[in-house]
Amino acid sequence: QKKGVIAIDGHSSCGKSTVAKDLAKELGYVYIDTGAMYRAVTLFAMQNGLITDGEILLDELQNKLNDIKITFRYRPEEKKNETFLNGTIVEDEIRGLEVSNNVSAVSTIAFVRHRMVELQKEMGKEGGIVMDGRDIGTVVFPDADVKLFMTASPEIRAQRRYDELKAKDSTDNSLSFDAILENVKQRDHMDSTRKESPLKKADDAILLDNSDMNKQEQMDWIMNVLRERN
Ligand code: C5P
Repeated sequence: QKKGVIAIDGHSSCGKSTVAKDLAKELGYVYIDTGAMYRAVTLFAMQNGLITDGEILLDELQNKLNDIKITFRYRPEEKKNETFLNGTIVEDEIRGLEVSNNVSAVSTIAFVRHRMVELQKEMGKEGGIVMDGRDIGTVVFPDADVKLFMTASPEIRAQRRYDELKAKDSTDNSLSFDAILENVKQRDHMDSTRKESPLKKADDAILLDNSDMNKQEQMDWIMNVLRERN
């Protein structure tokens, strides 16, 4: 059987990457985290002084766009996907609140999106991939074999992100649930209302609200859906 494309879209912090990684492992596919690509572009802009107080220097960013090389390395033993920006590992930096606060603004820029979509299409052209993001089923792979659209309530998503960051660094006292909830809501709003490929469920995507599911229940649910489709 030909290896297909599985597109997973949905709101911030609702476990898309967990599902995508588990599915990729289950099916022997490659996982591609497109959010990490937008995060890496955002980090690059921050490092190069192209973002100050949320203001983005568009011309400079556009001029430098081709200097940005994003690559991934997958560690199967740890089920860990690592993101590299121009050869340097940036996995932790791109997950921090500073990048999170700027990434949705960077993601509204049309020339950034066009470049990322081009790279994503290239990465997926042979099939055998699970790609997660916001516009995979609508823009990047409108003909994907399976499309999932994931969501959960903002409070549950903020709690999960809080727990995740806390687990990484339990000594970090700057972590605030309210700030994370605010960030989740703000990103929902920006992602859904932007002009360029806004976050929306593709008509043929399967809706998965995992507010009341644990990981195992969720995986069982998805595998069931995949079986029914075949
Ligand atoms: O998935 P993640 O939360 O890491 O994505 C970070 C941000 O990147 C999102 O809030 C969204 O603004 C943007 N994004 C996007 N299109 C994608 C993936 C992510 O606009 N395909």
